[in-house]
Amino acid sequence: MKSPASSVLRCEACGAQYAEIDPRTSCDCGGLLGVLHSAPSETGPALRARFALRRGSVSRQASDSSGVWRFQELVMPSARQMISHPEGNTPLLTAARVATYVGVRQLYLKHEGHNPTGSFKDRGMTVAITQAVRVGARAVGCASTGNTSASLAAYAAIGGLKAIVLVPEGHVALGKLAQTIAHGARTLAVRGDFDACLRLMREAQSALGVYLVNSVNPWRIEGQKTIVTELLEQLAWDPPDWIVLPAGNLGNTAAFGKALVEMRDLQLIDRLPRLAAVQAEGAAPFAASFAQGFARRHRVEPSTVASAIRIGDPASFDRAVAAIRSTDGVVISVPDEALLDAKATVDASGIGCEPASAASVAGARQLVRQGIVGPEQRVVAVLTGHLLKDPEVVLGYHRAGEGTAKLANPPVTIDPTLRALEQVVFSQ
Ligand code: F0G
Repeated sequence: MKSPASSVLRCEACGAQYAEIDPRTSCDCGGLLGVLHSAPSETGPALRARFALRRGSVSRQASDSSGVWRFQELVMPSARQMISHPEGNTPLLTAARVATYVGVRQLYLKHEGHNPTGSFKDRGMTVAITQAVRVGARAVGCASTGNTSASLAAYAAIGGLKAIVLVPEGHVALGKLAQTIAHGARTLAVRGDFDACLRLMREAQSALGVYLVNSVNPWRIEGQKTIVTELLEQLAWDPPDWIVLPAGNLGNTAAFGKALVEMRDLQLIDRLPRLAAVQAEGAAPFAASFAQGFARRHRVEPSTVASAIRIGDPASFDRAVAAIRSTDGVVISVPDEALLDAKATVDASGIGCEPASAASVAGARQLVRQGIVGPEQRVVAVLTGHLLKDPEVVLGYHRAGEGTAKLANPPVTIDPTLRALEQVVFSQ
């Protein structure tokens, strides 16, 4: 682009506006900030063609090889020096076994576990850390159930920034904690849940000048929108009937809704898919509000095996409500057993995902059973994180034995003899 396009930050509560390089990540009134971009010079097929051209180019700009930055007009049009891994360009998979399990003929799995740190967080983080460098942040920080912290740690290392992470003590999956430490973030285990970590991080933001990169940061949302842009491109811009995703702090739900409305306005798509946000039953304040027509905001004491979405007071609540309303969406919750069963099915199909990700598959199955999703409808379920993020849940499930877990595949110890091998493999 020749002339740099610009963006503004606008408060979603009071309408106050800030310049795009303002270091605030929320409004002075306490409201959430959203990003508004100046309109790109092209729309519809011409804009699609521009995205496609970048994808094929390896030499022109390093950022073209990123599945976030090749959609730059929709993300951060004025950025010039991106802190990129690169990220995105994740596969849209089919798996007959999982489709049968869900009960639909056409199921696609958008696998965000194929990102560099193994979750969708990298898409928002490349943008938030690019912005942190632009505003001259002295340090970046987040509260996290583990994936945001792993991603922050990696991107802060690439960008040369000091990183601070607050995680709920004892409730972070092993793989995520290992990544966060390995990439060099200062990691503090807080005696409290995710919601307590986020409250503390927000205090540190104003008192110590730490640039906050949780998904309340509007630039995180801009990056995460590209999950939807990319999956629609992969479907030749022919929208599915449903996009189903796990929901915790609700940043992703908000990002999906914003992406879809903007893409329709830019004539990239001609109709909106419906969003289905799926929570774990023990951490389902958003589903409880939806059941009451969003009459009031709920807060709960969270409890679920899916530690990534063990959140009782989601920060992006208001903008997620807007996303569900604008897409005629639904919000449901699934019990942990259904979630683990769905995960075991995805894992056994050779694809694999972390526990929270399986909420989308378990949720899609529940929606089919309730008659909300029809068996002939096209469904995309988003898998948000990689199987190796949470090895403890995998081993716990399979070692529990067939009585407890339907698809249990426990490892067996044998003596080093052919007879023992044969007995275990062929006669049981
Ligand atoms: N799936 C995974 C694997 C996650 O890590 C998260 C959130 C979600 C789904 C829910 O997304 O919060 O946008 O509704 N993880 C955050 C973290 C909270 O700290 O890594 P959301």
